[in-house]
Amino acid sequence: MILVTGGAGYVGSVLVGELLALGERVRVVDTLWFGNPFPPHERLEVIEGDLRQPQTAWLEDIDAIVHLAGLSNDPTADFAPELNSESNVYATRQLAELAAAKSRADDKELRYLFASTCSVYYAPANADEANVTVMTEDMPIAPTANYSKTKRLAEIELLRIADKNPLFVPVLLRKGTIFGLGPRMRFDLVVNVFTLHAWKNQQLTVHGHGEAWRPLLHIRDAADAYIHLLSAPADKIRGEAFNLVHKNYRVLELAHWVAEVIEQRYGVEIRVKRDRSTNAGARSYYVNGEKIQRTLGFSADRGAAEAVVSIWDALERGDFGIEPDKDPRFFNIRWLRETVMAGVPA
Ligand SMILES: NC(=O)c1ccc[n+]([C@@H]2O[C@H](COP(=O)([O-])OP(=O)(O)OC[C@H]3O[C@@H](n4cnc5c(N)ncnc54)[C@H](O)[C@@H]3O)[C@@H](O)[C@H]2O)c1
Repeated sequence: MILVTGGAGYVGSVLVGELLALGERVRVVDTLWFGNPFPPHERLEVIEGDLRQPQTAWLEDIDAIVHLAGLSNDPTADFAPELNSESNVYATRQLAELAAAKSRADDKELRYLFASTCSVYYAPANADEANVTVMTEDMPIAPTANYSKTKRLAEIELLRIADKNPLFVPVLLRKGTIFGLGPRMRFDLVVNVFTLHAWKNQQLTVHGHGEAWRPLLHIRDAADAYIHLLSAPADKIRGEAFNLVHKNYRVLELAHWVAEVIEQRYGVEIRVKRDRSTNAGARSYYVNGEKIQRTLGFSADRGAAEAVVSIWDALERGDFGIEPDKDPRFFNIRWLRETVMAGVPA
């Protein structure tokens, strides 16, 4: 059985569907902040639980762990820094300690696939968009933002636990910014929100100068990479970081590209507007994703065109209600502020 923490989230809900389709048994542990996206299934167990108080029972009969739970972007981490540290570092370490103890007790390897992020590479020092530094896994990193800093701290904790226990097999999967359709949808990710705005207003707004670089990744390639890592030889992955990227784009280039996909497919003209009054595009990083291909033969080949079309079609069908742009459920920071943390003093 595979334990998927945060399995009811955007990435998790796609991954769990794929694992079930492969015949796996899956246990999801999730606070269910965004609800439970799964219909009942005989090989799926969904536990509403908070990883900040991990239970040994969650690891019973488990063969591997995919740890996705936590705060999953910069705005939520900045809004709730304490919750961010507790969920992203403390909970990750606690669960890893339990996993390491289990591997020792069973005298059996236990792999722990950790949802890290390419944003660990973002630092003002390598954000010079004119002379972009192409980041690889072996480069020294020192992220400064709340979110990426806690992801890096969690990586370090996992490697420290692995140093003391050869049966504990952590893997650090540094994913690019994800796009694509999923049972629990997010519209706070760049391609998804561009598609939403194009559908709603026939217009995309790029904040700042739009020159910032972003590594992007299809949600199905994210899920497939976890599945690949579940059966990869342990000696090739133990303690390794892998970047997972389809392609790096400049944000402005991406906006034009999304507009073009829509115009060609639906004949709807989309205007790309620039709002220079804010500088949201200043966060820039360019990431090389060749190591996972070189080491394991896995590559993230899916591009964004199919994702844009499938999201547009889902919007047309009304899958997300009539005004998804106003529904806080699809925007992590709004959901956290308006529901999860509502009434909690900042
Ligand atoms: N989506 C991306 O572009 C992206 C890119 C790189 C890395 N990641 C990482 O991948 C993981 C999954 O991302 P996502 O987009 O699916 O995010 P998501 O916000 O959709 O899902 C996170 C899930 O974790 C659950 N959760 C949060 N704190 C928890 C806790 N303390 N205990 C139990 N459950 C908890 C939430 O209820 C939610 O279902 C995250 O760790 C994120 O940081 C995501």
